[in-house]
Amino acid sequence: MDKTYNNNFKSVRPVALDGRKGVYIETYGCQMNVNDSEVILSILEKEGFALCGEMEKAGLVIINTCAIRDNAEQRIWGRLDVFRQMKARHPLVVCVVGCMAERLKDELLKHKAVDIVAGPDSYRKLPALLRSMTEEDGRKQIDVMLSSEETYADISPVRMDKNGVSAFISIMRGCNNVCSYCVVPYTRGIERSRDPETIIREARELIECGYKEINLLGQNVDSYLWKGQETVNFASLLRKTAEISPDTRIRFSTSHPKDISDEVLYTMARYDNICKHIHLPVQSGSSRMLELMRRKYDRDWYLERIRKIREIMPDCSVTTDVIAGFCTETEEDHRETLSLMEEVRFDGAFMFQYSERPGTLAARRYKDDVPPETKTSRLNEIIALQNRISLENNQKEIGKHFRVLVEGHSKRDKDFLSGRASNNKMCVFPSKGQRPGEYAEVRITGCTSATLIAENI
Ligand code: 5AD
Ligand code: SF4
Repeated sequence: MDKTYNNNFKSVRPVALDGRKGVYIETYGCQMNVNDSEVILSILEKEGFALCGEMEKAGLVIINTCAIRDNAEQRIWGRLDVFRQMKARHPLVVCVVGCMAERLKDELLKHKAVDIVAGPDSYRKLPALLRSMTEEDGRKQIDVMLSSEETYADISPVRMDKNGVSAFISIMRGCNNVCSYCVVPYTRGIERSRDPETIIREARELIECGYKEINLLGQNVDSYLWKGQETVNFASLLRKTAEISPDTRIRFSTSHPKDISDEVLYTMARYDNICKHIHLPVQSGSSRMLELMRRKYDRDWYLERIRKIREIMPDCSVTTDVIAGFCTETEEDHRETLSLMEEVRFDGAFMFQYSERPGTLAARRYKDDVPPETKTSRLNEIIALQNRISLENNQKEIGKHFRVLVEGHSKRDKDFLSGRASNNKMCVFPSKGQRPGEYAEVRITGCTSATLIAENI
């Protein structure tokens, strides 16, 4: 739906291989996975590989997978069948990495197309796994050990995006929140924060290379904590990154409603270059569901956090994630989700049907008892409501002035540019020749539910 849950990210930066070995990388899942693919590329480049835009020209295929819902996994099985057909025509090493590699290691290794399986904490081992495979006459290789320390802190990811404007920095890995529906703690292991010095160093390097926006990533950024000579929490990390360069924007995701602190909100308010957008997944508007989901907050707590965000930053946009049809969800619970959405008036949402993940607390304890057609109809209702609210919120932006960071040409019309305002809303406006990475001052003249239409001022 949007780049947060990117389900078809291809390796598109074409390079001349110049005798180097070609690697083709396909990434599914969240921004964290996109950043992990960049870490993998950095590790492989040191081994003489170069990113290759076409699978046919590559000798190595990396498929970086997601396990969050069953449909994410089904898509990967489908791709593996395509790779198997490719392998019949052309020698290819296929390496499955990421969350599904961690969850379904044995099944994956049995698949005809698969040569190597490596979990999210095993990327440094990829060169050794490739070597062992060659030495052992093509024997399949696996490493899915999770670590309590790995943060890839010393690795500068090779950026795969095309415009050189916005980059991710991963500030922590893993997750200690055992939400009952979620597979992530099992696929990415326990939470660990990365040394802030390495984060700041990476940010400086990006800024020196011309990047204008840095997106700090973590499963739960609010619980970032580094205990070194100085204790650094998320608010102090935000402050340190924002102070590097006032011209560089800072974004972050994802926040957890139980952890997002007033200190973080005041820090955001204090720095113009910290973008005024918070992604705050609510999951459900029913306190009974939130309890079963083990979210550790209830409806009132969530609404109070929203009130605080708006008190401190009236112009801050808020987006969310919603799950429809979690175990035992009644029509009344569902109505509470709709009423919460009406009350909060989110600027955007990622909306999903509940998908049972084997091994999670919900799968062990509760019955996945909402019929599929009910899940679908509830999800459709949630989507329709959010589309209406997004459109109404966008209509309220008409006439306002925004500073937009130009990302590139609009996909529909190359006489138009597109870029985001601080509140993360996508703006499209006529090109005056501004280049990616420059700021444009615009006035909003129209909108759809997904985009603001603007003119230069
Ligand atoms: N089923 C459906 N959606 C899920 N999410 C996480 N686990 C599941 C699941 N089992 C959603 C949540 C989370 C987002 C990343 O994915 O909304 O915030
Ligand atoms: Fe990202 Fe979660 Fe999917 Fe893993 S399972 S790739 S952490 S969305």
